[in-house]
Amino acid sequence: MTAEVTARFNPFAAEFRRDPYPMYRVLRETRPVHKTMGMWVLTRHADVRAVLCGGAFSAALIPALVSRQAAATTGGTDGDRLDDEEAAFICVMCFVAGHETTKSMIGNGLLALLRHPEQGERLRRDPRQAGPAVTEALRYDSPLQLTKRVAIRDVEIGGHLVSAGEQVLLCLGAANRDPEAFGRPDEFDISRDAPASTPAHLALGHGMHGCLGGALAQLQATVAFECLYRLPGRLEPAVPPSALEWQDRSLIVRGLKRLPVTLRGDS
Ligand code: HEM
Repeated sequence: MTAEVTARFNPFAAEFRRDPYPMYRVLRETRPVHKTMGMWVLTRHADVRAVLCGGAFSAALIPALVSRQAAATTGGTDGDRLDDEEAAFICVMCFVAGHETTKSMIGNGLLALLRHPEQGERLRRDPRQAGPAVTEALRYDSPLQLTKRVAIRDVEIGGHLVSAGEQVLLCLGAANRDPEAFGRPDEFDISRDAPASTPAHLALGHGMHGCLGGALAQLQATVAFECLYRLPGRLEPAVPPSALEWQDRSLIVRGLKRLPVTLRGDS
């Protein structure tokens, strides 16, 4: 059964989009470093973190484009200007980087709060818990699930040789549910204390390409949760779980198309 599930690992599958976490668990437990569709797939927190902050991998595409843009705006040499396609790509990247992710974080976090009413109740009683709730939401249901690196030299990961030029898919969502890194990883707990020994979640990346807008995004989500849980009344899902639809335009972003809620009476 396990081998069968592992063999069918397919990030495009509707089932995976709906709930990737069972598959991540199988991968972490059976093949934490494996090759599929021509690239290595990593699911353990320690491996993902090591790739993000190690010097053996490159996040080539974006820095190359950003460098070219910098050269263009500072009067770079002839021909060193963005063409239309590159400019459009950067616009799309900024939109995805800043908007889709933040929107998805607020939706995923609110959904987790609605599905765990006791956690929502904590927030209602003390809206100052909104900050920790955002941190836990990022870990529990990360808006950016996947990112990629290219090995710039041969490197060993989890007993496997990743050769220079090979691509590595980093499953941030899987790393953030790794029981080696987080106690009770599948529980949503906004009062989760992070002892000094607990590593940070990787929802905002790590190392030199860690998220530039993470502080802004967390502030936005904190304000959103605080406002929602200060409303007089109780928030409840307005539709059954089976009616929720996950976005399917981007492979790397996990977010709902919409999340209808009801605000029920004051109490
Ligand atoms: C909850 C919201 C957000 C999430 C989950 C998120 C997640 C991430 C992650 C995981 C990375 C690292 C990707 C990698 O290493 O391959 C990243 C990088 C980046 N993020 Fe965010 N992000 C969010 C919001 C934002 C916002 C609001 C902005 C801009 C205002 C932004 C701008 C960027 C940029 C420019 C990078 C690239 C940094 C670099 O390559 O050096 N992000 N983000």
